[in-house]
Amino acid sequence: MPLTGLKVGLIGGGAMGEALATGLVKSGAIPQTDLVVSDVSAERLRWLEETLGIRTFQENRPLANKADIVVLAVKPDVVAPVMEEIGPILHPGQTVVSIAAGVPISIIEKHIPRPVPVVRVMPNTPCLIGEGASAYALGSHAGSRDAARVEAVFTSVGRTVAVEESLLDAVTGLSGSGPAYVYMMVEALADGAVKMGLPRETALLLSAQTVLGAAKMVLATGKHPAELKDRVTTPGGTTAAGLFVLEQRGVRAALIEAVSAATERSQELSKGKKT
Ligand SMILES: NC(=O)c1ccc[n+]([C@@H]2O[C@H](COP(=O)([O-])OP(=O)(O)OC[C@H]3O[C@@H](n4cnc5c(N)ncnc54)[C@H](OP(=O)(O)O)[C@@H]3O)[C@@H](O)[C@H]2O)c1
Repeated sequence: MPLTGLKVGLIGGGAMGEALATGLVKSGAIPQTDLVVSDVSAERLRWLEETLGIRTFQENRPLANKADIVVLAVKPDVVAPVMEEIGPILHPGQTVVSIAAGVPISIIEKHIPRPVPVVRVMPNTPCLIGEGASAYALGSHAGSRDAARVEAVFTSVGRTVAVEESLLDAVTGLSGSGPAYVYMMVEALADGAVKMGLPRETALLLSAQTVLGAAKMVLATGKHPAELKDRVTTPGGTTAAGLFVLEQRGVRAALIEAVSAATERSQELSKGKKT
């Protein structure tokens, strides 16, 4: 077990910090005694202590002193001040993990005077229910030990893959923004069924479960989605009729362009272009 005996410290106990803390505790990846969270909000910390039975600090430095894995789960604009605070006390036995969107590894490394491993992760919102899709990139001092640590942390809230840092914008365009594309699809599929007479609640349940089931089929069988599609498309049948409309309306090309546009926007935002 890569996390055995290691202490994990989460700086920022907001939505993502809570998701990671919950995943780590509920999956049994680490005992509660090995997890600490720091946040500026005393109320937030009290809630995390009471709900998860973990220890908390209102200061970041005691956490950065104790933790083997220090996760930066604060908003991107708070990363620099937090690193100014903790950078000087970090040492190479630790792994610093940043989930801040658009903050390059080099910015974090710049704040640390020693060769401390840094890993940048791009998670997504389904981490909140343990079904996240996360990709990580290793910094210049990070190696297999750090990759194993990060995989152990993020596997507790979903699936994790390694990529080059330059590909994290494409990850943002796919799995970062992707839940919103799928919500739109779930809504539209349900709208189609409502148009044809199904009650709204029934339509939404069937639509969401269909998306979930199809996604699980891809992951569980390891088969190419085109093969799975062909298997359920009877010649002259209902699915063929539906697929023809999707092809005619350019749904495939629209999704490809959506991922490209979101990736390009992520690249712009990383370079500080706000509009
Ligand atoms: N949410 C997502 O789906 C998602 C997906 C991918 C990446 N991310 C990244 O994850 C990071 C966290 O996002 P989030 O949605 O969890 O944000 P969030 O809910 O705002 O959580 C951040 C927490 O950090 C606290 N904080 C602020 N300043 C601090 C400081 N100096 N030291 C310690 N804690 C401090 C905040 O307190 P206050 O609220 O009182 O300021 C808040 O509780 C972001 O960088 C984001 O880019 C999020």
